[in-house]
Amino acid sequence: MKVVVLGASGETGRSIVSGLLESPDKFEITAVSRPSSLESKNNQTLKKLGVNLVGLDLDGPQDEWVRLFTGIDVVISAVNAAVLRAQIPIADAAKKAGVGRFIPCCFATACPPRGVMQVREIKEDVLDHIKKIYLPYTVIDVGWWYQISAPRLPSGRVDYAVAFPSDHIAGDGTAPVARTHLQDVGRYVARIIADPRTLNKMVFAYSEVISQGQVVDMLEKASGEHLDRNYISELELNSQVHSSQEALRLGDVSAIQGLWVAQYQLSWGIRGDNSPEHAKYLGYLDCKELYPDMTYITFEEYVKELLNGKAIRVYA
Ligand SMILES: NC(=O)c1ccc[n+]([C@@H]2O[C@H](COP(=O)([O-])OP(=O)(O)OC[C@H]3O[C@@H](n4cnc5c(N)ncnc54)[C@H](OP(=O)(O)O)[C@@H]3O)[C@@H](O)[C@H]2O)c1
Repeated sequence: MKVVVLGASGETGRSIVSGLLESPDKFEITAVSRPSSLESKNNQTLKKLGVNLVGLDLDGPQDEWVRLFTGIDVVISAVNAAVLRAQIPIADAAKKAGVGRFIPCCFATACPPRGVMQVREIKEDVLDHIKKIYLPYTVIDVGWWYQISAPRLPSGRVDYAVAFPSDHIAGDGTAPVARTHLQDVGRYVARIIADPRTLNKMVFAYSEVISQGQVVDMLEKASGEHLDRNYISELELNSQVHSSQEALRLGDVSAIQGLWVAQYQLSWGIRGDNSPEHAKYLGYLDCKELYPDMTYITFEEYVKELLNGKAIRVYA
C-alpha cells in the first residue's frame, strides 16, 4: 500500500511512520516536508529508515500535489495544529489524483464538532470540505497523550520528560479521560488504514480511560512523593477562555495557545467529552471493538518509564 504522510517529521507523524514500518502490512511511505525543513534531524532519521522524502510547501502549486498523490492509496496528514486549514487545497489535490483515502489531521480528543473547542471547529471545517468533495476519508482521534498527562513531582525527577505538565486538576478530577501513549498512535493508524470497515468513518483509538484524579494518585503511589491537588474550576477555566478570546480580538495572536489549553481542559476535564461513551454517541467506531487483540502501552508502564528516566520529552 502506498502512503503519503504530511507532517511526518513531527510528534504524531514520527509515531505514524514507525507504526507503519513495524506493521506486518507492507507500506511504501513518502513523507512530505517543507523544503526549509528537509535537512532537519528528524527528516534525516526518516530517510535512514527508508522513507522517501519530498520537499513541498503546504501552499505549494496544486499540480505538484496532484502529481505527488497520483497512484497513492492513503494520504495521512499530521501537520502542526497552526496550519490545519492548509489541508483544504491539499484535499482537493487528493480528490483530483484519485487518492483512495485521506486521513485529515485530527489525532486528538473526542469532542462535539461545534461550540466546545475552537481547534476542533477548524478540523471540522476541513472535514466538511472533504465531505463536500466526496473524498474518501477516515477521522482518527486518539484521546489525550500519556506524555502530556502527568503532573510535575516535588523532587523535580520527571521534569526532564514532562514538556507540558498537567499541574491542575479540572473540576473534581473524576471525568473519564481516554489516553494513549504517543508511540502507540502509529500502531493504531497502521491497523485502521488497512481496514475497509473504517472507510468514511471516525475511529476512536485509545488505550486506557483514566481520570486526572487517578493520574495523580498513580504518580503519587509509584513515586512515593506527596502531590498537592491543585483544582481548577469550570468558572476559572471559562474566565481563561474569555480573557484569551479578548486578547485575540485585540490582535494578540499568541493568546491562541491559552485559549486551546483552557478549552481542552473544559472539554475533557469538566464536560467529559473525551470518553469512549461520548465518542460512540458522536459516531466514532471504538478501536477496542474493532481490534480486541491489539496490545498497547499501559499508563502504569508509562509511569515506570517516566520514573526510571526512560521517557522521551515531546517537542524536544
Ligand atoms: N492527542 C493529544 O494529546 C495531542 C497532543 C498534541 C497534538 N495533538 C494533535 O496532533 C496533530 C499533529 O500535531 P503534532 O503536535 O504532532 O504536530 P507537530 O509535531 O507540531 O508538527 C508536525 C509537522 O508539521 C509540519 N509543519 C508544516 N507547517 C508548519 C508550520 N507552519 N509550523 C510548524 N510545523 C509545520 C512540520 O513538518 P516539516 O517541518 O517537516 O514541514 C512539523 O514537523 C494535531 O491535530 C494536534 O491537534 C494531539
